[in-house]
Amino acid sequence: MKKSLKIISMFFVAGMVMASCEGPMGPAGADGAKGDKGDKGDPGTPGTTLACAECHNNDDELVAFSAQWSESQHATGGNAAYANRTGCVQCHTHQGFLEYVAEGSAADISVPVNPMQINCYTCHKIHQTYTAADLALTKPGQQTLDVKYNGADVIWNKGNSNQCVACHQERVVSPAPVYDGPDFAITSARIGPHHAPMANLVLGKHPFELPGTAHPTANPHSTASGCLTCHMSTPYGYQAGGHNMGVWYDSHGTETMLMTGCTTCHTNSTTLATLLTALRADVEGKLADLEAQLIAADIYNPATGLAKTGTYKANVTLAYLNYNTVKEDRSKGIHNPGYIKVLLDNSIAEMVEAGFPVPGK
Ligand code: HEC
Ligand code: HEC
Ligand code: HEC
Ligand code: HEC
Ligand code: HEC
Ligand code: HEC
Repeated sequence: MKKSLKIISMFFVAGMVMASCEGPMGPAGADGAKGDKGDKGDPGTPGTTLACAECHNNDDELVAFSAQWSESQHATGGNAAYANRTGCVQCHTHQGFLEYVAEGSAADISVPVNPMQINCYTCHKIHQTYTAADLALTKPGQQTLDVKYNGADVIWNKGNSNQCVACHQERVVSPAPVYDGPDFAITSARIGPHHAPMANLVLGKHPFELPGTAHPTANPHSTASGCLTCHMSTPYGYQAGGHNMGVWYDSHGTETMLMTGCTTCHTNSTTLATLLTALRADVEGKLADLEAQLIAADIYNPATGLAKTGTYKANVTLAYLNYNTVKEDRSKGIHNPGYIKVLLDNSIAEMVEAGFPVPGK
Protein backbone atom coordinates (compact mmCIF):
# COMPACT_ATOMS: atom_id res chain seq x y z
CA MET A 1 0.00 0.00 0.00
CA LYS A 2 1.30 3.45 -0.82
CA LYS A 3 1.90 5.59 2.29
CA SER A 4 -0.63 8.24 1.29
CA LEU A 5 -3.32 5.66 0.71
CA LYS A 6 -2.64 4.08 4.04
CA ILE A 7 -2.98 7.44 5.79
CA ILE A 8 -6.28 8.11 4.07
CA SER A 9 -7.62 4.71 5.06
CA MET A 10 -6.52 5.29 8.65
CA PHE A 11 -8.47 8.54 8.74
CA PHE A 12 -11.42 6.66 7.30
CA VAL A 13 -11.26 4.05 10.06
CA ALA A 14 -10.83 6.71 12.74
CA GLY A 15 -13.84 8.58 11.37
CA MET A 16 -15.98 5.48 11.57
CA VAL A 17 -14.84 4.81 15.13
CA MET A 18 -15.72 8.35 16.21
CA ALA A 19 -19.02 8.34 14.36
CA SER A 20 -20.35 5.04 15.62
CA CYS A 21 -18.51 4.40 18.87
CA GLU A 22 -18.99 0.70 18.28
CA GLY A 23 -16.57 -2.05 19.36
CA PRO A 24 -12.84 -1.96 20.15
CA MET A 25 -10.20 -0.70 17.65
CA GLY A 26 -8.50 -3.40 15.60
CA PRO A 27 -4.73 -4.17 15.81
CA ALA A 28 -2.31 -1.67 14.17
CA GLY A 29 -1.47 -2.46 10.54
CA ALA A 30 2.07 -3.22 9.29
CA ASP A 31 4.45 -0.29 8.58
CA GLY A 32 4.21 1.03 5.03
CA ALA A 33 7.12 1.23 2.58
CA LYS A 34 9.66 4.09 2.95
CA GLY A 35 8.60 7.21 1.03
CA ASP A 36 10.73 8.70 -1.77
CA LYS A 37 13.43 11.27 -0.96
CA GLY A 38 11.47 14.34 -2.06
CA ASP A 39 12.72 17.29 -4.10
CA LYS A 40 16.00 19.01 -3.29
CA GLY A 41 15.41 22.09 -1.09
CA ASP A 42 15.50 25.60 -2.48
CA PRO A 43 19.03 26.96 -1.80
CA GLY A 44 17.55 30.40 -1.08
CA THR A 45 16.66 32.91 -3.72
CA PRO A 46 18.24 36.35 -3.55
CA GLY A 47 15.72 38.72 -2.07
CA THR A 48 13.94 36.11 -0.01
CA THR A 49 14.35 35.47 3.71
CA LEU A 50 17.16 33.32 5.13
CA ALA A 51 19.41 34.25 2.23
CA CYS A 52 22.33 34.33 4.66
CA ALA A 53 24.77 33.37 1.93
CA GLU A 54 24.19 36.59 0.07
CA CYS A 55 26.49 38.15 2.65
CA HIS A 56 28.09 35.20 4.46
CA ASN A 57 29.90 33.76 1.46
CA ASN A 58 33.41 33.43 0.14
CA ASP A 59 33.58 36.94 -1.36
CA ASP A 60 36.23 39.16 0.14
CA GLU A 61 33.75 41.87 1.20
CA LEU A 62 32.68 40.80 4.69
CA VAL A 63 36.17 39.75 5.77
CA ALA A 64 38.05 42.69 4.22
CA PHE A 65 35.52 45.35 5.25
CA SER A 66 35.42 43.98 8.80
CA ALA A 67 39.20 44.07 9.00
CA GLN A 68 39.36 47.63 7.64
CA TRP A 69 36.66 48.78 10.04
CA SER A 70 38.28 47.10 13.04
CA GLU A 71 41.44 49.19 12.53
CA SER A 72 39.44 52.40 12.06
CA GLN A 73 38.81 55.22 14.49
CA HIS A 74 35.13 54.27 14.40
CA ALA A 75 36.09 50.97 16.03
CA THR A 76 39.08 51.97 18.15
CA GLY A 77 38.52 55.66 19.03
CA GLY A 78 37.15 54.76 22.43
CA ASN A 79 34.96 57.84 22.71
CA ALA A 80 31.73 55.82 22.83
CA ALA A 81 32.59 55.42 26.51
CA TYR A 82 33.78 58.99 27.09
CA ALA A 83 30.84 60.56 25.24
CA ASN A 84 28.20 58.21 26.60
CA ARG A 85 26.00 61.01 27.90
CA THR A 86 22.97 63.03 26.90
CA GLY A 87 23.90 65.39 24.08
CA CYS A 88 26.64 63.10 22.80
CA VAL A 89 25.25 59.54 22.46
CA GLN A 90 23.49 60.20 19.16
CA CYS A 91 26.82 60.54 17.34
CA HIS A 92 29.15 58.59 19.59
CA THR A 93 27.34 55.33 20.34
CA HIS A 94 25.82 52.71 18.10
CA GLN A 95 22.68 52.50 20.20
CA GLY A 96 22.25 56.26 20.51
CA PHE A 97 22.55 56.77 16.76
CA LEU A 98 19.92 54.15 15.92
CA GLU A 99 17.58 55.59 18.54
CA TYR A 100 18.14 59.04 17.05
CA VAL A 101 17.32 57.68 13.57
CA ALA A 102 14.17 55.96 14.89
CA GLU A 103 12.93 58.96 16.86
CA GLY A 104 13.97 61.60 14.32
CA SER A 105 15.38 63.79 17.07
CA ALA A 106 18.13 63.74 19.66
CA ALA A 107 15.89 65.28 22.31
CA ASP A 108 15.04 62.16 24.28
CA ILE A 109 17.72 59.53 23.76
CA SER A 110 18.60 57.08 26.49
CA VAL A 111 22.19 56.53 27.58
CA PRO A 112 23.14 52.90 26.95
CA VAL A 113 24.65 50.73 29.70
CA ASN A 114 26.97 48.99 27.23
CA PRO A 115 27.95 51.79 24.84
CA MET A 116 29.13 50.43 21.51
CA GLN A 117 31.45 52.13 19.02
CA ILE A 118 30.11 52.75 15.50
CA ASN A 119 29.97 49.41 13.67
CA CYS A 120 28.37 47.55 10.72
CA TYR A 121 24.98 47.55 12.43
CA THR A 122 25.14 51.35 12.99
CA CYS A 123 25.37 52.24 9.32
CA HIS A 124 23.70 49.19 7.72
CA LYS A 125 20.39 47.49 8.53
CA ILE A 126 22.23 44.22 9.26
CA HIS A 127 20.06 41.29 10.44
CA GLN A 128 16.77 43.13 10.20
CA THR A 129 15.33 41.00 7.37
CA TYR A 130 18.29 38.64 6.91
CA THR A 131 18.44 39.45 3.21
CA ALA A 132 20.86 41.44 1.10
CA ALA A 133 18.45 44.36 1.50
CA ASP A 134 20.00 44.72 4.96
CA LEU A 135 23.06 46.33 3.40
CA ALA A 136 20.91 49.44 2.98
CA LEU A 137 22.13 52.39 5.01
CA THR A 138 20.36 53.39 8.23
CA LYS A 139 20.26 57.13 7.47
CA PRO A 140 19.89 57.44 3.68
CA GLY A 141 18.55 60.40 1.77
CA GLN A 142 19.36 64.07 1.93
CA GLN A 143 20.19 65.56 5.31
CA THR A 144 19.24 68.97 6.62
CA LEU A 145 22.21 70.11 8.66
CA ASP A 146 21.69 71.33 12.23
CA VAL A 147 23.27 74.73 11.56
CA LYS A 148 21.59 77.23 9.25
CA TYR A 149 23.47 79.54 6.87
CA ASN A 150 22.26 83.13 6.54
CA GLY A 151 19.02 82.00 8.14
CA ALA A 152 18.33 79.29 5.56
CA ASP A 153 18.37 75.50 5.90
CA VAL A 154 21.48 73.79 4.55
CA ILE A 155 20.89 70.56 2.63
CA TRP A 156 23.53 67.85 2.10
CA ASN A 157 22.57 65.49 -0.72
CA LYS A 158 25.61 63.58 -1.93
CA GLY A 159 24.78 59.91 -2.42
CA ASN A 160 25.85 57.46 0.24
CA SER A 161 27.84 60.10 2.10
CA ASN A 162 24.50 61.34 3.45
CA GLN A 163 25.12 58.66 6.09
CA CYS A 164 28.35 60.36 7.21
CA VAL A 165 27.08 63.89 7.66
CA ALA A 166 24.41 62.92 10.16
CA CYS A 167 27.38 62.88 12.56
CA HIS A 168 30.19 64.78 10.81
CA GLN A 169 28.62 68.24 10.92
CA GLU A 170 28.84 71.36 13.06
CA ARG A 171 26.89 71.63 16.26
CA VAL A 172 24.85 74.74 16.93
CA VAL A 173 26.67 77.43 18.94
CA SER A 174 24.00 79.06 21.07
CA PRO A 175 24.01 81.82 22.04
CA ALA A 176 26.35 83.02 19.28
CA PRO A 177 28.10 86.36 18.80
CA VAL A 178 26.74 88.72 16.14
CA TYR A 179 29.11 90.60 13.80
CA ASP A 180 29.71 94.14 15.11
CA GLY A 181 27.23 93.26 17.86
CA PRO A 182 27.55 93.70 21.63
CA ASP A 183 30.45 92.19 23.55
CA PHE A 184 30.07 88.46 24.00
CA ALA A 185 30.45 86.40 27.18
CA ILE A 186 32.17 83.04 26.71
CA THR A 187 30.88 80.87 29.55
CA SER A 188 32.27 77.52 28.39
CA ALA A 189 35.86 76.96 27.33
CA ARG A 190 34.52 74.39 24.86
CA ILE A 191 32.53 76.92 22.85
CA GLY A 192 32.62 76.01 19.16
CA PRO A 193 31.11 73.77 16.50
CA HIS A 194 32.74 70.64 18.04
CA HIS A 195 35.14 68.22 16.42
CA ALA A 196 33.42 67.49 13.13
CA PRO A 197 32.56 70.56 11.03
CA MET A 198 33.44 68.71 7.79
CA ALA A 199 30.05 68.79 6.04
CA ASN A 200 29.55 72.54 6.57
CA LEU A 201 33.05 73.33 5.29
CA VAL A 202 32.78 71.08 2.22
CA LEU A 203 29.60 72.97 1.31
CA GLY A 204 31.16 76.32 2.20
CA LYS A 205 28.24 77.12 4.46
CA HIS A 206 29.75 77.85 7.82
CA PRO A 207 27.82 80.37 9.93
CA PHE A 208 30.61 82.69 11.14
CA GLU A 209 32.04 84.07 7.90
CA LEU A 210 33.47 87.57 8.28
CA PRO A 211 33.43 90.39 5.73
CA GLY A 212 36.48 91.05 3.55
CA THR A 213 37.47 88.91 0.59
CA ALA A 214 34.38 87.17 -0.87
CA HIS A 215 34.11 83.50 0.08
CA PRO A 216 34.30 81.25 -3.00
CA THR A 217 30.98 79.48 -3.64
CA ALA A 218 32.48 76.68 -5.77
CA ASN A 219 34.57 73.88 -4.23
CA PRO A 220 36.47 71.56 -6.59
CA HIS A 221 36.44 68.98 -3.77
CA SER A 222 32.66 68.90 -3.35
CA THR A 223 31.68 65.88 -5.45
CA ALA A 224 28.45 63.93 -5.98
CA SER A 225 29.72 61.21 -3.60
CA GLY A 226 30.88 63.71 -0.99
CA CYS A 227 33.11 62.25 1.70
CA LEU A 228 33.32 58.82 0.03
CA THR A 229 35.39 60.20 -2.88
CA CYS A 230 38.48 60.47 -0.69
CA HIS A 231 37.66 58.55 2.52
CA MET A 232 36.16 55.35 1.06
CA SER A 233 38.31 55.21 -2.06
CA THR A 234 40.36 52.12 -3.00
CA PRO A 235 41.87 51.06 0.33
CA TYR A 236 45.44 50.53 1.37
CA GLY A 237 45.13 47.16 3.11
CA TYR A 238 43.26 47.59 6.34
CA GLN A 239 44.90 50.92 7.21
CA ALA A 240 43.17 53.55 5.07
CA GLY A 241 40.32 54.06 2.60
CA GLY A 242 37.49 51.57 2.10
CA HIS A 243 35.78 50.77 5.39
CA ASN A 244 38.69 52.14 7.41
CA MET A 245 37.69 55.60 6.10
CA GLY A 246 40.94 57.19 7.28
CA VAL A 247 43.34 58.78 4.80
CA TRP A 248 46.68 58.13 6.51
CA TYR A 249 48.61 54.87 6.63
CA ASP A 250 52.02 53.73 7.69
CA SER A 251 54.26 52.55 4.87
CA HIS A 252 57.41 51.06 6.36
CA GLY A 253 57.66 53.78 8.98
CA THR A 254 56.51 56.68 6.78
CA GLU A 255 53.14 58.33 7.39
CA THR A 256 51.61 58.35 3.92
CA MET A 257 48.45 60.00 2.63
CA LEU A 258 46.06 57.77 0.68
CA MET A 259 45.74 59.31 -2.79
CA THR A 260 43.54 56.74 -4.52
CA GLY A 261 40.59 59.13 -4.36
CA CYS A 262 42.61 62.13 -5.57
CA THR A 263 44.17 60.62 -8.66
CA THR A 264 40.86 60.27 -10.49
CA CYS A 265 41.09 64.07 -10.95
CA HIS A 266 44.74 64.88 -10.23
CA THR A 267 46.31 62.62 -12.84
CA ASN A 268 49.84 63.99 -12.37
CA SER A 269 51.11 62.86 -8.98
CA THR A 270 54.07 65.26 -8.96
CA THR A 271 51.81 68.25 -9.55
CA LEU A 272 49.46 66.97 -6.86
CA ALA A 273 52.30 66.66 -4.34
CA THR A 274 53.40 70.25 -5.09
CA LEU A 275 49.84 71.59 -4.74
CA LEU A 276 49.39 69.70 -1.49
CA THR A 277 52.62 70.93 0.08
CA ALA A 278 51.74 74.52 -0.86
CA LEU A 279 48.17 74.30 0.48
CA ARG A 280 49.20 72.72 3.77
CA ALA A 281 51.94 75.30 4.34
CA ASP A 282 49.53 78.11 3.49
CA VAL A 283 46.72 76.90 5.78
CA GLU A 284 49.06 75.97 8.64
CA GLY A 285 50.73 79.39 8.34
CA LYS A 286 47.42 81.24 8.47
CA LEU A 287 46.24 79.13 11.42
CA ALA A 288 49.47 79.91 13.29
CA ASP A 289 49.08 83.65 12.63
CA LEU A 290 45.48 83.67 13.80
CA GLU A 291 46.38 81.59 16.84
CA ALA A 292 49.09 84.11 17.81
CA GLN A 293 46.59 86.95 17.49
CA LEU A 294 44.04 85.09 19.63
CA ILE A 295 46.67 84.43 22.29
CA ALA A 296 47.51 88.16 22.26
CA ALA A 297 43.79 88.92 22.72
CA ASP A 298 43.85 86.47 25.66
CA ILE A 299 40.80 84.58 24.33
CA TYR A 300 42.65 81.34 23.56
CA ASN A 301 44.63 79.12 25.92
CA PRO A 302 47.25 77.20 23.93
CA ALA A 303 48.00 74.94 26.90
CA THR A 304 44.49 73.46 26.91
CA GLY A 305 43.66 74.10 23.26
CA LEU A 306 40.42 75.70 24.45
CA ALA A 307 38.94 79.17 24.76
CA LYS A 308 39.27 81.26 27.93
CA THR A 309 36.00 82.16 29.58
CA GLY A 310 35.37 85.90 29.84
CA THR A 311 33.82 88.75 27.88
CA TYR A 312 35.23 89.71 24.47
CA LYS A 313 34.49 91.86 21.46
CA ALA A 314 31.95 90.04 19.28
CA ASN A 315 34.25 90.07 16.24
CA VAL A 316 37.17 88.65 18.22
CA THR A 317 34.92 85.83 19.40
CA LEU A 318 33.86 85.16 15.81
CA ALA A 319 37.51 85.01 14.72
CA TYR A 320 38.13 82.51 17.53
CA LEU A 321 35.19 80.36 16.38
CA ASN A 322 36.62 80.29 12.84
CA TYR A 323 40.05 79.32 14.15
CA ASN A 324 38.49 76.55 16.24
CA THR A 325 36.45 75.30 13.25
CA VAL A 326 39.40 75.04 10.88
CA LYS A 327 41.54 73.42 13.56
CA GLU A 328 38.86 70.83 14.37
CA ASP A 329 38.24 70.11 10.69
CA ARG A 330 41.79 68.80 10.47
CA SER A 331 41.84 68.63 6.67
CA LYS A 332 44.44 71.41 6.49
CA GLY A 333 42.40 73.07 3.78
CA ILE A 334 41.60 70.03 1.63
CA HIS A 335 37.87 69.95 2.42
CA ASN A 336 37.41 73.30 0.65
CA PRO A 337 40.77 74.94 -0.18
CA GLY A 338 39.67 78.39 -1.36
CA TYR A 339 36.93 78.80 1.21
CA ILE A 340 39.06 77.77 4.19
CA LYS A 341 41.84 80.17 3.16
CA VAL A 342 39.40 83.08 2.89
CA LEU A 343 37.76 82.18 6.21
CA LEU A 344 41.19 82.45 7.86
CA ASP A 345 42.31 85.56 5.93
CA ASN A 346 39.18 87.49 6.90
CA SER A 347 39.49 86.37 10.52
CA ILE A 348 43.12 87.52 10.62
CA ALA A 349 42.11 90.89 9.12
CA GLU A 350 39.30 91.25 11.66
CA MET A 351 41.77 90.67 14.50
CA VAL A 352 44.06 93.37 13.08
CA GLU A 353 41.05 95.66 12.96
CA ALA A 354 40.29 94.86 16.59
CA GLY A 355 43.81 95.96 17.58
CA PHE A 356 45.63 92.61 17.47
CA PRO A 357 48.14 92.57 14.61
CA VAL A 358 49.93 89.32 13.87
CA PRO A 359 52.86 89.36 16.34
CA GLY A 360 56.13 89.99 14.53
CA LYS A 361 54.43 90.98 11.27
C1 HEC B 1 23.03 41.87 4.63
C2 HEC B 1 24.10 40.95 4.84
C3 HEC B 1 23.86 39.84 5.83
C4 HEC B 1 22.92 38.85 5.77
C5 HEC B 1 21.87 38.62 4.69
C6 HEC B 1 23.13 38.03 6.93
N1 HEC B 1 24.17 38.51 7.66
FE1 HEC B 1 24.93 37.71 9.38
N2 HEC B 1 26.26 39.25 9.52
C7 HEC B 1 26.38 40.27 8.62
C8 HEC B 1 27.34 41.22 9.09
C9 HEC B 1 27.79 42.48 8.39
C10 HEC B 1 27.80 40.72 10.33
C11 HEC B 1 28.83 41.36 11.25
C12 HEC B 1 30.18 41.01 10.78
C13 HEC B 1 31.24 41.65 11.62
O1 HEC B 1 30.95 42.17 12.70
O2 HEC B 1 32.39 41.60 11.19
C14 HEC B 1 27.12 39.48 10.56
C15 HEC B 1 27.33 38.64 11.67
C16 HEC B 1 26.75 37.42 11.84
C17 HEC B 1 27.04 36.51 12.91
C18 HEC B 1 28.05 36.75 14.00
C19 HEC B 1 27.33 37.16 15.26
C20 HEC B 1 26.67 38.47 15.14
O3 HEC B 1 25.41 38.51 15.17
O4 HEC B 1 27.37 39.48 15.01
C21 HEC B 1 26.23 35.42 12.74
C22 HEC B 1 26.16 34.18 13.62
C23 HEC B 1 25.42 35.65 11.56
N3 HEC B 1 25.77 36.87 11.03
C24 HEC B 1 24.48 34.77 11.07
C25 HEC B 1 23.63 35.06 10.00
C26 HEC B 1 22.55 34.17 9.57
C27 HEC B 1 22.24 32.82 10.20
C28 HEC B 1 21.95 34.78 8.52
C29 HEC B 1 20.74 34.31 7.73
C30 HEC B 1 19.61 33.93 8.52
C31 HEC B 1 22.67 36.03 8.28
N4 HEC B 1 23.66 36.16 9.21
C32 HEC B 1 22.37 36.90 7.25
C33 HEC B 1 25.71 40.39 7.42
C34 HEC B 1 24.65 39.61 7.03
C1 HEC C 1 27.04 57.54 14.00
C2 HEC C 1 27.88 58.70 13.76
C3 HEC C 1 28.90 58.62 12.66
C4 HEC C 1 28.70 58.26 11.35
C5 HEC C 1 27.41 57.81 10.69
C6 HEC C 1 29.98 58.38 10.71
N1 HEC C 1 30.93 58.77 11.61
FE1 HEC C 1 32.89 59.00 11.28
N2 HEC C 1 33.24 59.25 13.24
C7 HEC C 1 32.26 59.37 14.20
C8 HEC C 1 32.86 59.47 15.49
C9 HEC C 1 32.10 59.62 16.81
C10 HEC C 1 34.25 59.36 15.30
C11 HEC C 1 35.31 59.35 16.39
C12 HEC C 1 35.22 58.00 17.09
C13 HEC C 1 35.95 57.97 18.40
O1 HEC C 1 36.90 58.74 18.58
O2 HEC C 1 35.55 57.13 19.24
C14 HEC C 1 34.45 59.25 13.87
C15 HEC C 1 35.69 59.16 13.25
C16 HEC C 1 35.87 59.23 11.88
C17 HEC C 1 37.14 59.34 11.21
C18 HEC C 1 38.49 59.26 11.87
C19 HEC C 1 38.98 60.55 12.35
C20 HEC C 1 40.34 60.40 13.01
O3 HEC C 1 40.46 60.87 14.15
O4 HEC C 1 41.23 59.81 12.42
C21 HEC C 1 36.89 59.44 9.87
C22 HEC C 1 37.92 59.62 8.76
C23 HEC C 1 35.46 59.36 9.69
N3 HEC C 1 34.88 59.23 10.93
C24 HEC C 1 34.82 59.42 8.48
C25 HEC C 1 33.49 59.03 8.30
C26 HEC C 1 32.86 58.80 7.02
C27 HEC C 1 33.55 58.96 5.68
C28 HEC C 1 31.58 58.42 7.27
C29 HEC C 1 30.51 58.01 6.28
C30 HEC C 1 30.82 56.88 5.41
C31 HEC C 1 31.39 58.44 8.71
N4 HEC C 1 32.57 58.81 9.30
C32 HEC C 1 30.20 58.15 9.36
C33 HEC C 1 30.90 59.38 13.97
C34 HEC C 1 30.30 58.95 12.80
C1 HEC D 1 26.66 65.88 15.87
C2 HEC D 1 27.43 64.72 16.28
C3 HEC D 1 28.26 64.79 17.54
C4 HEC D 1 27.86 65.13 18.80
C5 HEC D 1 26.46 65.55 19.25
C6 HEC D 1 29.01 64.99 19.65
N1 HEC D 1 30.10 64.57 18.93
FE1 HEC D 1 31.98 64.27 19.62
N2 HEC D 1 32.61 63.85 17.73
C7 HEC D 1 31.78 63.72 16.64
C8 HEC D 1 32.55 63.27 15.51
C9 HEC D 1 32.01 62.96 14.12
C10 HEC D 1 33.88 63.13 15.96
C11 HEC D 1 35.09 62.68 15.17
C12 HEC D 1 35.76 63.84 14.54
C13 HEC D 1 37.17 63.55 14.15
O1 HEC D 1 37.74 62.56 14.60
O2 HEC D 1 37.73 64.35 13.38
C14 HEC D 1 33.88 63.50 17.38
C15 HEC D 1 35.00 63.51 18.20
C16 HEC D 1 34.96 63.64 19.56
C17 HEC D 1 36.10 63.48 20.43
C18 HEC D 1 37.51 63.17 19.98
C19 HEC D 1 38.23 64.44 19.73
C20 HEC D 1 39.67 64.26 19.39
O3 HEC D 1 40.30 65.29 19.15
O4 HEC D 1 40.15 63.13 19.34
C21 HEC D 1 35.67 63.67 21.71
C22 HEC D 1 36.50 63.59 22.98
C23 HEC D 1 34.25 63.95 21.64
N3 HEC D 1 33.86 63.94 20.32
C24 HEC D 1 33.44 64.18 22.73
C25 HEC D 1 32.10 64.53 22.65
C26 HEC D 1 31.27 64.85 23.79
C27 HEC D 1 31.74 64.79 25.24
C28 HEC D 1 30.05 65.17 23.31
C29 HEC D 1 28.83 65.64 24.09
C30 HEC D 1 29.04 66.76 24.98
C31 HEC D 1 30.09 65.02 21.87
N4 HEC D 1 31.36 64.64 21.51
C32 HEC D 1 29.01 65.27 21.02
C33 HEC D 1 30.44 63.99 16.57
C34 HEC D 1 29.67 64.42 17.63
C1 HEC E 1 30.30 54.62 9.24
C2 HEC E 1 29.34 53.93 8.41
C3 HEC E 1 29.63 52.52 7.96
C4 HEC E 1 30.06 51.47 8.74
C5 HEC E 1 30.43 51.48 10.21
C6 HEC E 1 30.06 50.31 7.90
N1 HEC E 1 29.70 50.65 6.63
FE1 HEC E 1 29.54 49.39 5.04
N2 HEC E 1 29.15 50.96 3.83
C7 HEC E 1 28.99 52.27 4.25
C8 HEC E 1 28.75 53.11 3.09
C9 HEC E 1 28.53 54.61 3.12
C10 HEC E 1 28.76 52.26 1.96
C11 HEC E 1 28.56 52.66 0.50
C12 HEC E 1 29.91 52.81 -0.14
C13 HEC E 1 29.83 53.32 -1.57
O1 HEC E 1 28.78 53.82 -1.98
O2 HEC E 1 30.87 53.25 -2.26
C14 HEC E 1 28.99 50.90 2.47
C15 HEC E 1 29.04 49.77 1.67
C16 HEC E 1 29.13 48.47 2.16
C17 HEC E 1 29.01 47.27 1.37
C18 HEC E 1 28.72 47.22 -0.10
C19 HEC E 1 27.22 47.41 -0.21
C20 HEC E 1 26.62 47.05 -1.53
O3 HEC E 1 25.39 47.35 -1.66
O4 HEC E 1 27.30 46.51 -2.38
C21 HEC E 1 29.16 46.20 2.22
C22 HEC E 1 29.11 44.72 1.87
C23 HEC E 1 29.41 46.73 3.54
N3 HEC E 1 29.37 48.13 3.46
C24 HEC E 1 29.65 45.98 4.65
C25 HEC E 1 29.98 46.50 5.89
C26 HEC E 1 30.44 45.71 7.01
C27 HEC E 1 30.63 44.21 6.99
C28 HEC E 1 30.67 46.56 8.03
C29 HEC E 1 31.21 46.27 9.41
C30 HEC E 1 32.52 45.63 9.44
C31 HEC E 1 30.33 47.90 7.56
N4 HEC E 1 29.93 47.82 6.26
C32 HEC E 1 30.43 49.05 8.33
C33 HEC E 1 29.04 52.73 5.53
C34 HEC E 1 29.42 51.99 6.63
C1 HEC F 1 38.79 65.83 -1.64
C2 HEC F 1 38.97 64.74 -0.73
C3 HEC F 1 38.18 64.76 0.57
C4 HEC F 1 36.83 64.91 0.75
C5 HEC F 1 35.77 65.10 -0.32
C6 HEC F 1 36.59 64.82 2.17
N1 HEC F 1 37.78 64.62 2.83
FE1 HEC F 1 38.03 64.46 4.81
N2 HEC F 1 40.03 64.61 4.60
C7 HEC F 1 40.70 64.52 3.39
C8 HEC F 1 42.12 64.57 3.63
C9 HEC F 1 43.20 64.47 2.58
C10 HEC F 1 42.29 64.68 5.04
C11 HEC F 1 43.62 64.75 5.83
C12 HEC F 1 44.31 66.05 5.69
C13 HEC F 1 45.60 66.10 6.45
O1 HEC F 1 45.75 65.41 7.46
O2 HEC F 1 46.47 66.85 6.02
C14 HEC F 1 40.96 64.69 5.61
C15 HEC F 1 40.68 64.78 6.97
C16 HEC F 1 39.46 64.40 7.51
C17 HEC F 1 39.22 64.09 8.90
C18 HEC F 1 40.25 64.21 10.02
C19 HEC F 1 40.86 62.89 10.35
C20 HEC F 1 41.71 62.32 9.29
O3 HEC F 1 41.29 61.28 8.72
O4 HEC F 1 42.78 62.86 9.01
C21 HEC F 1 37.92 63.69 9.01
C22 HEC F 1 37.21 63.20 10.24
C23 HEC F 1 37.33 63.81 7.70
N3 HEC F 1 38.28 64.25 6.81
C24 HEC F 1 36.01 63.53 7.39
C25 HEC F 1 35.41 63.89 6.19
C26 HEC F 1 33.98 63.93 5.97
C27 HEC F 1 32.96 63.51 6.98
C28 HEC F 1 33.79 64.37 4.70
C29 HEC F 1 32.47 64.67 4.02
C30 HEC F 1 31.63 65.61 4.73
C31 HEC F 1 35.09 64.56 4.10
N4 HEC F 1 36.03 64.29 5.05
C32 HEC F 1 35.34 64.93 2.77
C33 HEC F 1 40.12 64.43 2.15
C34 HEC F 1 38.77 64.60 1.89
C1 HEC G 1 36.61 65.62 -8.20
C2 HEC G 1 37.95 65.92 -8.62
C3 HEC G 1 38.99 66.09 -7.53
C4 HEC G 1 39.32 65.20 -6.53
C5 HEC G 1 38.71 63.84 -6.23
C6 HEC G 1 40.40 65.81 -5.80
N1 HEC G 1 40.71 67.03 -6.34
FE1 HEC G 1 42.06 68.36 -5.64
N2 HEC G 1 41.46 69.73 -6.96
C7 HEC G 1 40.57 69.51 -7.99
C8 HEC G 1 40.45 70.71 -8.79
C9 HEC G 1 39.57 70.88 -10.01
C10 HEC G 1 41.28 71.67 -8.20
C11 HEC G 1 41.50 73.14 -8.63
C12 HEC G 1 42.42 73.21 -9.82
C13 HEC G 1 43.81 72.89 -9.42
O1 HEC G 1 44.37 73.62 -8.59
O2 HEC G 1 44.36 71.89 -9.94
C14 HEC G 1 41.91 71.01 -7.06
C15 HEC G 1 42.83 71.63 -6.22
C16 HEC G 1 43.58 70.96 -5.28
C17 HEC G 1 44.64 71.57 -4.49
C18 HEC G 1 45.09 73.02 -4.55
C19 HEC G 1 44.09 73.86 -3.77
C20 HEC G 1 44.54 75.26 -3.49
O3 HEC G 1 43.72 76.17 -3.65
O4 HEC G 1 45.69 75.47 -3.06
C21 HEC G 1 45.14 70.59 -3.69
C22 HEC G 1 46.25 70.72 -2.69
C23 HEC G 1 44.40 69.38 -3.98
N3 HEC G 1 43.47 69.64 -4.94
C24 HEC G 1 44.63 68.17 -3.37
C25 HEC G 1 43.80 67.06 -3.49
C26 HEC G 1 43.94 65.86 -2.71
C27 HEC G 1 45.04 65.59 -1.71
C28 HEC G 1 42.93 65.03 -3.08
C29 HEC G 1 42.60 63.66 -2.52
C30 HEC G 1 42.61 63.50 -1.09
C31 HEC G 1 42.15 65.73 -4.09
N4 HEC G 1 42.71 66.95 -4.32
C32 HEC G 1 41.03 65.22 -4.72
C33 HEC G 1 39.87 68.36 -8.22
C34 HEC G 1 39.87 67.24 -7.40
